[in-house]
Amino acid sequence: MKIVISHRLHDDGMKVLEDVNAQVAITNDGNPKAMLPELLDADGLIIRIGSINRETMLQAKNLKAIGRPGVGVDDVDVKTATELGIPVVIAPGANTRSVAEHAFALMFACAKDIVHSDKEKRNGNFNIRSSYKAYELNHKTLALIGYGRIGSILAQMSKAIGMNVKVYDPFVKQEAIEKEGYLYCANLDDMIRDSHVISIHVPLTNETRSLIGEHEFELMNEHTILINCARGEVINEEALTKVLQEGKIHSAGLDVFAHEPIDINSSLFKLNNVIVSPHMAGQTKEAASGVATMAAEGVIAVINGERWSYVCNPEVYNHPRWNK
Ligand SMILES: NC(=O)c1ccc[n+]([C@@H]2O[C@H](COP(=O)([O-])OP(=O)(O)OC[C@H]3O[C@@H](n4cnc5c(N)ncnc54)[C@H](O)[C@@H]3O)[C@@H](O)[C@H]2O)c1
Repeated sequence: MKIVISHRLHDDGMKVLEDVNAQVAITNDGNPKAMLPELLDADGLIIRIGSINRETMLQAKNLKAIGRPGVGVDDVDVKTATELGIPVVIAPGANTRSVAEHAFALMFACAKDIVHSDKEKRNGNFNIRSSYKAYELNHKTLALIGYGRIGSILAQMSKAIGMNVKVYDPFVKQEAIEKEGYLYCANLDDMIRDSHVISIHVPLTNETRSLIGEHEFELMNEHTILINCARGEVINEEALTKVLQEGKIHSAGLDVFAHEPIDINSSLFKLNNVIVSPHMAGQTKEAASGVATMAAEGVIAVINGERWSYVCNPEVYNHPRWNK
């Protein structure tokens, strides 16, 4: 069995592959063109960073499984995979806690102006303590956009420190949100207008691309903290940069960006009211081990003909390839 990996997995995931004596090819480049030569005779592909498109899948005639050590599949042409009978294995839940904790950490770091104060203090500016940018989170309102695995854990943590939690997620029943003591919001604008911290936990889809843009920023105010640990393109980055430059919102905590791995010329990185991290919310020791293990186990199972349940396209099992 040959498995192509865009970048080396956590050791625990590599061990799963070694245990079945898989032939592993690491391309160190997740570009479909760069991976193609290795993919031509591969049974499986695990993409840590990178993407896979229709053209490449059509040429990789032996490909039986695609794995993502995570849950985001916006870089995989899932439609083509399904059409070809290829399950797209995901690792739901394995990094949930880590991402929720990261969003929580960014929320605190923004509310307490930690990073800018650290920089100023190192430069000898002790008086930064009197800028009074920091505020308490107790009794403040957290607006969650997306109440799935990550959003619901962040809700629990935020409620525990005395925050009022509001939720906008049209795909979750109102009763399920109210049962936990949170406020259900049917209207995104209303929720944004009345909140202090807004945290995004939706997948990137046609509906969520640029979900937060000029109009939504107009509804925010100088206390608003915006956290994004989902996908960069959910926010219109240009509009965000403008409101931050003009001080129209308090700050932003961003783990994800429209251009990754990095656009060093981005004006965002020059601002003191932005805290950034390199798409690392799910990169804790625990999560990296968990997602790598799940992706490797799932890809091997699928290659061996098992109908693995952790796939983002379960309808794939209706494909003739699976019903011989
Ligand atoms: N920064 C990181 O390292 C990292 C790690 C893991 C996941 N993520 C991102 O976080 C996202 C959320 O992860 P999750 O595990 O909570 O996913 P999930 O599928 O459990 O939850 C997503 C929620 O978003 C809701 N949703 C979908 N479209 C919506 C819309 N238009 N408006 C409002 N809500 C909508 C869904 O109903 C669902 O409840 C992932 O899709 C991924 O892109 C980032």
